Amino acid sequence: MTLANTPSLHNETARAFLRDAIHGLTGARKSLPPKWLYDHAGSALFEEITGLPEYYPTRTEISILRAHAANLAGYISEGGALVELGSGASIKTRLLLDAGPHIAAYVPIDISAAFLHATADDLHTRYPHLAVHPTVGDFANPIALPAALHDLPKVGFFPGSTIGNLDPLDAIALLVRARAWPGIETFILGADLVKDPQVLIDAYDDKAGVTARFITNILTRMNAELGADFDVDRFDYIAEWNADAAQIQMSLMAQVDHHVSLGGQDIRFANQESIAVSQSRKYTMDSLENLADAAGWAVHEVVTDPETNFAVAVLKAQSPV
Ligand code: AVJ
Repeated sequence: MTLANTPSLHNETARAFLRDAIHGLTGARKSLPPKWLYDHAGSALFEEITGLPEYYPTRTEISILRAHAANLAGYISEGGALVELGSGASIKTRLLLDAGPHIAAYVPIDISAAFLHATADDLHTRYPHLAVHPTVGDFANPIALPAALHDLPKVGFFPGSTIGNLDPLDAIALLVRARAWPGIETFILGADLVKDPQVLIDAYDDKAGVTARFITNILTRMNAELGADFDVDRFDYIAEWNADAAQIQMSLMAQVDHHVSLGGQDIRFANQESIAVSQSRKYTMDSLENLADAAGWAVHEVVTDPETNFAVAVLKAQSPV
């Protein structure tokens, strides 16, 4: 990635964003894909969420990775590669890398090229013996792994319970694609667990209102990047627990009947009509096993915190039938 092609990349991103926004806002039930929450402002707000008292997932997963680092790193074969989906700043990964000096290569995959390359430089300094292969990619789509690593045994890593933001069929599809990576043996998956609904609601509707700002930022982003004219004051943030789907639903609900213009389209919002912006699925041991099984994996081991708030599941590739 050179600076020279950044503007065209930006335009390509804006076009995809516009396509998703129009598609999502002109259907019978309005929705927006959660991946568009993560622009610069959104990423900073999510960072802030991870430090909130109500938002237990990040610190809980880190405590699990810390407590089980040697065990988890042991799943990566001597001279093998760790492949991470949505690597961000690779903070959690470092716990595995610190416990796994035998790991030969690391493939961080992220949609943000700038972030990825800054992180790769940093990792190179911290782990001079590790071959770092930063790969720009969207885990919602197929990803071509670096050809140089074709023959290495591999372990996939997808922390954060980000799998829970995907529609159930997309979550299966992601794991099916990972199952097809050359040399893949194991997949380490972070998954948030079903618990007291009030704890879940509080985690996604914090007192300080940071999650509300994080979700509402998608409207601000459409105004800035797509020339839309959303009035953010006309929407309220709502977090609800859907017990049947075992997911938190995050929505923006119009507080007045009004119209918004977006990409030449006139979009009508009825009073109390909502835009589904993100879902966050919560798992049980059974639903984790079903997910793994549907995608050609088997749950080999699950490690949790003492309160079983969060799980790190070790999946082993099933042999094709
Ligand atoms: C990106 C999956 C870690 O669903 O918990 C947090 C995103 N959205 N609060 C989650 C999110 C609102 C988050 N993950």
